[in-house]
Amino acid sequence: MEILAFGVQADEKPLIERAFRDQEDVRCLDVFLNEDTAPIAAGHEIVSTSVNADLGAAVLEILAAGGTRMVAQRSTGFNNVDLATAERLGMTVARVSYYSPHSVAEFAWALAMAVNRRIVRASNRTRDFDFRLDGLMGRDLHGRTAGVLGTGKIGEAFARIAHGFGMRLLGWDVAENPACAELGMRYVPKDELLARSDLVTLHVPLMPETRHLLDAAALKSMRDDAILINSSRGGLIDTAALVGELRSGRFAGVGLDVYEAEAGLFFLDKSLEAVEDDTLARLVTFPNVLVTSHQAYYTEDAVGQIVETTARNVLDYRQGRRSDNVLVPRS
Ligand SMILES: NC(=O)c1ccc[n+]([C@@H]2O[C@H](COP(=O)([O-])OP(=O)(O)OC[C@H]3O[C@@H](n4cnc5c(N)ncnc54)[C@H](O)[C@@H]3O)[C@@H](O)[C@H]2O)c1
Repeated sequence: MEILAFGVQADEKPLIERAFRDQEDVRCLDVFLNEDTAPIAAGHEIVSTSVNADLGAAVLEILAAGGTRMVAQRSTGFNNVDLATAERLGMTVARVSYYSPHSVAEFAWALAMAVNRRIVRASNRTRDFDFRLDGLMGRDLHGRTAGVLGTGKIGEAFARIAHGFGMRLLGWDVAENPACAELGMRYVPKDELLARSDLVTLHVPLMPETRHLLDAAALKSMRDDAILINSSRGGLIDTAALVGELRSGRFAGVGLDVYEAEAGLFFLDKSLEAVEDDTLARLVTFPNVLVTSHQAYYTEDAVGQIVETTARNVLDYRQGRRSDNVLVPRS
C-alpha cells in the first residue's frame, strides 16, 4: 500500500525514502495539502503532511471521503489540525512530539545574533566593497537580560545558550522547568518579563489562549531597544501591530522565522509574482528586521529524527499500537 507524503522538500525526500525503506512504498509530492490538492490522496489510507498543511474540517472531509484513515504529521506543532473533526471522522492523527530542540534554539540564536550585529547588512555591504561600519553597531549580550516565553524543550535549549553568553534569565510559562531554574532563570509575570528583557524570545505553542500573546499592548510594554525573536508560530504576534511599532522606530532588531499568514507563501518560490501580502511586504523593508521562512527545524539531525519518527508512527498505526505521538483518537 502506497503512502502519500505532501509538502516534501527536495532535501527531505531521500530521508523520507530511507525512513520508509522497510515498510511501504512512499510517494513524495512537493505540493502542500490544501482543499485543491486533497483529492490527490483518494485511495490512500495513509498520508503524511508537513507543518504548513491545511488540515481544517473541509480538507479532512475530502481526505476521509477518499478513504484516508491516518494522517502522519511531520511536525511537533499541530495548530493546523482540526482535531475534533478528525476524531468525528474516525481518523488517526499522529505528530512528532520530540526532535532535536537544539535545531530551533540554535536558529533562534542565529537570528538574534544576526539582527543584533547587523550581519546581513554587513555582508551585503562587503559584496559591494563598502567597508564602512556606520550603522552596524550592535550590543554585547553578556550581562544583559534574556526573557524566554515558554520554557519547554526549545526554551530550555535557548536558555542554556543564553547562560553561556553570561545573560541574566527571566522566564514565563504555565509550568516552571527545574532545569531552567537551575540555570538561574527567574520566573516572573509576562508583563515584567517584557518590560525588563533586552532580548525576548517566543517558545510557547500556538493555541487559542496564546494567539496574539504579543498584541499591541504587549509590544508597547517592551523596551524600545529590545530584540524580539519568534521561531515558534507566527500567530503568537499581532504582526500588524508589530509593523506599527517598527514604523515608529522601535526595537533594536526583530528576527522572525514564522509569520501568521505564512501558509501559501513559506516554502514556495513567489519571487516572480506580485506580492499580495502588504504586511509581509512592509515587514521585510525595515532594516532591523530579518524574516526567514520557517527553517529553524531544518537541520539534517532534526529532519532525520522527524521522518524516522513519522515512519514509526505509521508502523504503530498499521500494527495497532498507540504511542504518545497520537493526537486522535484521544484514547
Ligand atoms: N520554527 C520551527 O521550525 C519550529 C520547529 C519546532 C517547534 N516550533 C514551535 O516551538 C514550540 C515549542 O516547542 P517545544 O518543543 O519547546 O514544546 P514544549 O511542549 O516542550 O514547550 C512548550 C512550553 O510552552 C508552555 N505553555 C503551553 N501553553 C502555555 C500557555 N498558555 N502559557 C504559557 N506557557 C505555555 C508549556 O508549559 C511548555 O513549557 C512548538 O509549539 C512549535 O510551535 C517551531
